[in-house]
Amino acid sequence: MGIFEIGIWRRRARPYLLACSGAAYRNHQRVFAAGFRACLESSFSLIRALPPAAFMPALDLPLALDYDGALEARLFDEIRLVVAPTVPAARIEPPRDLANADERRAAGEYAIWNTVHDLFITQVAAQAICGLFRDDTEFQFALARQLGDDAAHAEFSRGRAAVLLGRDPLPDVEQGVRDAWDLVGGFALRNWQNFLAWQFHYEHYILARLFVNRRTARVLDFGHREFGENRILPDEEAHRIRITQWWLRKLAGASESERREWTDSLIQADEDVQRILGPYLRDSWQLNLRATGLDTRGHVALYDAWRRELLATLLRLTPDDLPPLTSLAA
Ligand SMILES: [Fe+2]
Ligand SMILES: [Fe+2]
Repeated sequence: MGIFEIGIWRRRARPYLLACSGAAYRNHQRVFAAGFRACLESSFSLIRALPPAAFMPALDLPLALDYDGALEARLFDEIRLVVAPTVPAARIEPPRDLANADERRAAGEYAIWNTVHDLFITQVAAQAICGLFRDDTEFQFALARQLGDDAAHAEFSRGRAAVLLGRDPLPDVEQGVRDAWDLVGGFALRNWQNFLAWQFHYEHYILARLFVNRRTARVLDFGHREFGENRILPDEEAHRIRITQWWLRKLAGASESERREWTDSLIQADEDVQRILGPYLRDSWQLNLRATGLDTRGHVALYDAWRRELLATLLRLTPDDLPPLTSLAA
């Protein structure tokens, strides 16, 4: 067997020897270079779990699909260095807590936005479980996990908004969720391609702003911080990865013609969602800026490049293979 790449992948302190016999898709080399922890299913063979410091190649098990937060962070950093170099690799200055009424109001409005965002996700996921994906039990597990996680986040954000604003924000939340349904709810549930493109926007591309916020926010609601770091971050990674895995498994099992058809239709759906959500996403950056003072220099170019990179990675293409995409600024 010709070996295209070979390397050691560590998981839970256990090393595995991996080998790949040939480039399985066009940006394979680049994704491989992003690290063995980030290698993708069906591209590699797990040769075996290694005893410490041993090499005993014997091809047997297929490697379980692995798309994870390490790959996302690595890809984000490659882009950030080129497009938004003012965003650091890690936080430099510690943030401070809210200090006055204006800051509490801005943080409260941002908490309402987050409540709406998460509650809307739970409603769409619930409909998808018993509608679009009623026969796909595997995907139902991923969506049910997302539903439960994001419901907990929504409830917590509603509570923070109530504390910061001195009133229950429920009427604003209800209006926000109605607006979200009018904007994109029907579109997202029309077919699986639309649904997946909606997920990419709500769960994946949003990471650009969250990475920047995590590293550059000057002011944070300290009452939210612990829950955000210890609950929301791991939850989001868990359900985002599961949704991604469902898609990558589906793609890995596709015929060549299906692969082409699905790729084209997903690019189209992704573009449609971007055009629909443009104002909503621009608002989210402004609300986030008012609430935390994150570094928004170059954020349009950063978002656009991140979306292109991630969409290509999710479709197993190179960014250069994609057609021109609609900008966040459009
Ligand atoms: Fe969430
Ligand atoms: Fe989520």
